Amino acid sequence: MPMETVRLSQRGAVAIATIDNPPVNALSAALRAALVETVQAIAADPKVEALVIAAAGRAFIAGADISEFGKPPVEPLLPEVLNLIEACPKPVVAAIQGVALGGGLEVALACHARLAAPAAKLGLPEIKLGIIPGAGGTQRLPRLIGAAKAFPMMLTGEPISAEKGAALGLVELVSGDLIEAAVAKAQELAAQGVPARTSEWTDKLTDADREAFEALAKDATAKSGDMPNAMALIEAVRGAFTLPFPEGLAAERALFVRLLADERSKALRYAFFAEREATHVPGIDAGVKPRPLAQAAVIGAGTMGGGIAMCFANAGIPVTLIETTQELIDKGHARVRDTYGFSVKRGSMSEAARDERMALITPAVGLAAAGNADIVVEAAFEEMGVKRQIFGELDKVMKPGAILATNTSYLDVATIAAATARPQDVVGLHFFSPANVMKLLEIVRPTGTAGDVVATALALGRKLGKVPVVVGNCFGFVGNRMLAQRTRAAERLLIAGALPHEVDAAVTGFGFKMGPFAMSDLAGGDIGWRTRKSLGTKAAVADALCEAGRFGQKTGKGYYLYPEGARTGQRDPEVEALIERISAEKGVTRRSFTSDEIVARLMDPMVNEGAGILEEGIAARPGDIDTVWLNGYNWPAWRGGPMHWADTVGLDVIVKRLEAQAAESGDATLQPAPLLRRLAAEGKGFADLKARAA
Ligand code: CAA
Repeated sequence: MPMETVRLSQRGAVAIATIDNPPVNALSAALRAALVETVQAIAADPKVEALVIAAAGRAFIAGADISEFGKPPVEPLLPEVLNLIEACPKPVVAAIQGVALGGGLEVALACHARLAAPAAKLGLPEIKLGIIPGAGGTQRLPRLIGAAKAFPMMLTGEPISAEKGAALGLVELVSGDLIEAAVAKAQELAAQGVPARTSEWTDKLTDADREAFEALAKDATAKSGDMPNAMALIEAVRGAFTLPFPEGLAAERALFVRLLADERSKALRYAFFAEREATHVPGIDAGVKPRPLAQAAVIGAGTMGGGIAMCFANAGIPVTLIETTQELIDKGHARVRDTYGFSVKRGSMSEAARDERMALITPAVGLAAAGNADIVVEAAFEEMGVKRQIFGELDKVMKPGAILATNTSYLDVATIAAATARPQDVVGLHFFSPANVMKLLEIVRPTGTAGDVVATALALGRKLGKVPVVVGNCFGFVGNRMLAQRTRAAERLLIAGALPHEVDAAVTGFGFKMGPFAMSDLAGGDIGWRTRKSLGTKAAVADALCEAGRFGQKTGKGYYLYPEGARTGQRDPEVEALIERISAEKGVTRRSFTSDEIVARLMDPMVNEGAGILEEGIAARPGDIDTVWLNGYNWPAWRGGPMHWADTVGLDVIVKRLEAQAAESGDATLQPAPLLRRLAAEGKGFADLKARAA
């Protein structure tokens, strides 16, 4: 009997099935089979009156095994397993000690009672994978707690605490011994005879509940955007009111199976695994121990430095925030307090929590204050001379073994490290703005950085709640290096005939929240201008706007007009005339572009740069590049990232389009990278590449 994933034990007449399928007790085919055998064995065993389903490890059950999606289904399918559990003539009690997500919560819903420890988390996150619950969640949860309470859980996909679950009537909260309580519950139910089945409950599905659900559904329809699964979710939940249970279940399953095949769901699943794979760095195995980090310091209390200090405080790590003068540190420290203040005002943080976090941030003047830190993150002015001077001084004050990190967004980390006598302890930690919000953390690893420093940076990234990606050391690393290609492409498009609002509309139509020109106006055009000047490069339109003092929103005008502090720009005939003049000066006959052409012209050069990044080993895998773009640059999640997107377009198509762009513009850098050409010629995609060894 293949029972390795489930261990059986007995307390009196109650059997305990402990699920043990590391790392997260996902419902693999083997586990599903073992559950079926367990339930059948219990049903037939005269010595057993009831069953407790418990689990070992940090998860109760993390849901379906996502890696099985897209492969031919293997019997027994989850809905069958759950029907068997629910139909068991003896009571089955779920003892939830950790996360019960997706199919995991659906297992619990099929049981006849659910007990949860305070640490348990309950959720139906399928929406985030582009699907909907596929094993009865949309039918059993509304029957148990009412559709108006069940629907938001499924629509947001956010897990709730056991305490909240208890308040909703989803679980009973147990603060003592969970197994003991579950056994007692099982005995109690067994004494009552045939257990009540959730599928038979209808008393929560009232007219008032339906009305409340329909109001929420209307709102969700208006906001569902490009995702087909919100509509499918509404349809499935509505079935709980309109269809008998078996038919509701069948309708849910049909929607689930249809969504599973949708390219958007495939992209979301790809992104889930890419993000996790990114934490497995070639050459740094689990044996490399991270260094302990009890105290941090941040150099520079500007917006970035303050945000990074907040990340440490949010994770409970004491941090010294350092500036060069009392005035600057007072200002920076006050800005941090104000930022927390917004959360307090919005109600997302209590005053006590704000005070606790502020207490972890110690303001200080002078680099010597970093001396007791295990890690220091420099977030000073983006200039090599400044950085080298700071690192030279840090080298003198930091204790041996401390990690010296720079938050530079494009400078050479090896050159910064060379200002110290301990380059092995220097690493790039590239946070994205606003640092306390954005998920991405690019960990920049020059060749000399020690393996345990990279391992520490990865562990820190996870502790700070970030998505860490290890990248090599080059100008702009992964994200900004590719962004530079998009910026150049956007400028080329203006000169070739497109207007800013057309480019931005194509990009938002693709799924980004903002187009490149609206983004530039928000960030301030002067930033790119300064960089271009330092590199000796030019961008005719962007330079002309900056020379005219049009830096974007902060000056009331940039690519667009922002009258009286408006946040949404309006088209400006002056800018459009300027662009047309520049095209004429360059002898370009302007032409119009479709949205698809604009998208291709912007994204193909990025993909090309990505191919170069892979060839050079700056990123270990295409998935690492996609993880960067999904978490640092708001690439639309359901498009999976630029490299995944390129695979869906076809690399041969991208090669041809790049060749045409290179010929038209005379820009040789647009010629397809050798890796891109090779993969296209072999009929392959980036997904066919294996991770590079370190
Ligand atoms: N299937 C397969 N593998 C999974 C998995 C799943 N559902 N959940 C996690 N894993 C794997 C991860 O890929 C990772 O593998 P590696 O170590 O090889 O990288 C490992 O488990 C650990 O995962 P995390 O690094 O994410 O660990 P964590 O402790 O930070 O988080 C978690 C644990 C909260 C369970 C998180 O992994 C998570 O949210 N998982 C997804 C849960 C989910 O979406 N479930 C719904 C599935 S769909 C479904 O169930 C449909 C249905 O109705 C039938």
